[in-house]
Amino acid sequence: MTSRRAASAAQGRLMEHIDRVVAANGVAGGLRPALRSALQDCPRHLFVDRYQLGPMGAVLDAAIGRPEDHYDLIYQDIALGHVDSAGRALPSTNSPPSTSLYFLERLDLRPGQTVLEVGCGSGWTLALIARAVGPSGHAVGVEVIPELAEQAKRALAGAGITNATVFAADGAEGVPAKAPFDRVIFTTSIWSLPVTFFGQVGNGARLVAPFQIRGPGVDVLALDRDVSGEFRAAWATSSFFVRGTGGLAAEAPLPQPLSSMTMWAELANQVVFRVPMPLGTLGSATARGSLFGACTMAFRSYLTKTEPDMRVFAAEHDDLLPPFVVLGDPTSAMHIAGFGIVDEARRSLAICYPGEMVGYGNPSAAHRLLAAYRAWTDLMMPGVEAFDLVLRKTPRASAPPAGAWTETRGETTFVWSLKTDWPRASRLGAG
Ligand SMILES: C[S@@+](CC[C@H](N)C(=O)[O-])C[C@H]1O[C@@H](n2cnc3c(N)ncnc32)[C@H](O)[C@@H]1O
Repeated sequence: MTSRRAASAAQGRLMEHIDRVVAANGVAGGLRPALRSALQDCPRHLFVDRYQLGPMGAVLDAAIGRPEDHYDLIYQDIALGHVDSAGRALPSTNSPPSTSLYFLERLDLRPGQTVLEVGCGSGWTLALIARAVGPSGHAVGVEVIPELAEQAKRALAGAGITNATVFAADGAEGVPAKAPFDRVIFTTSIWSLPVTFFGQVGNGARLVAPFQIRGPGVDVLALDRDVSGEFRAAWATSSFFVRGTGGLAAEAPLPQPLSSMTMWAELANQVVFRVPMPLGTLGSATARGSLFGACTMAFRSYLTKTEPDMRVFAAEHDDLLPPFVVLGDPTSAMHIAGFGIVDEARRSLAICYPGEMVGYGNPSAAHRLLAAYRAWTDLMMPGVEAFDLVLRKTPRASAPPAGAWTETRGETTFVWSLKTDWPRASRLGAG
């Protein structure tokens, strides 16, 4: 088989798989025609140089050996870690194809649009955007790692794409020179939306972004800009994503080991409360390590929105299992020791560990955490897809609207409320 035919066969199998994934996630009929033909026109292998399949995996070079020897890997639905010319892993990946395409489906691309991708890596998603908006549209990418921005420019030229521009810069500033944008997609996770983006999109624009929750995981949201200048959620799901760096680095603290907290030395032996908690229980076993991070995403997402004193604790070095991290993001270990509420004023601490909740110092933090857990289960354990969101610039003085949770993250304020049709608003029906 020629290398061209091998690529097209691998690409065809990938397309079928992506169709199944997006259809299973509520996109009736699978990928829209513009994205299908974009995928056909933008072979993924053109955007992969040196790559790695896992944080501990060998470094592979697509230029070594026959091109088709790499296609079985490159056309799998997995993230490929980028590796620099000296063989070092970069904090960046070519995202799993079904993730990129599913998010592009939710971005609702139309011919003629001007679209910004923040975190364009080696340019594959940008190429798909450029093809989907057609010759009358324009795709603008910004990438903070200059070596990758250069690779993206080369790859886009190699794929014959002329309606895309790549900037090697920090995407926290957006790209004012190319604004206004009809669509913006962040393909790196963020804690808050820099206010500059409120000025770089017009009314009716859509923005898709993975917003970090505390600890591993993200709330991915499609947000529409309305006439009042605010963004409103049109669709949401949960996922995992590489964290933004530079100006997009999270203002929220990363998980720290319990031992790094000054109160821990005083409270570690003052257990005052201990109750079983089914979070992360798998039959008779308990989801330890990375599974605990994954199993607790919905509750941690809820606590991130509703409990300002919520904290996540990193695994101590000596109970580390083999690492399970978001490829390309060494800070993203999904293995967490626990999470809970830290009440410094009352010298009280409550932590959900796999299978139980433990209170330290005095029971006040444990009562709060238990009340939050009861409230969450009474609400039918909502994940992010159960919430409406209004995202606005942080007002000088704000009174939270009744029945909503207000969360201020830097320059942006998130006003969350449960969808009126929850729990009937199922994940598959959303969007
Ligand atoms: C998951 S990778 C991007 C994947 C790319 N969209 C693709 O599918 O090939 C995330 C990218 O965001 C970039 N990034 C992180 N912080 C950034 C920032 N502040 N400005 C611009 N790019 C950033 C990273 O360097 C990385 O290349």
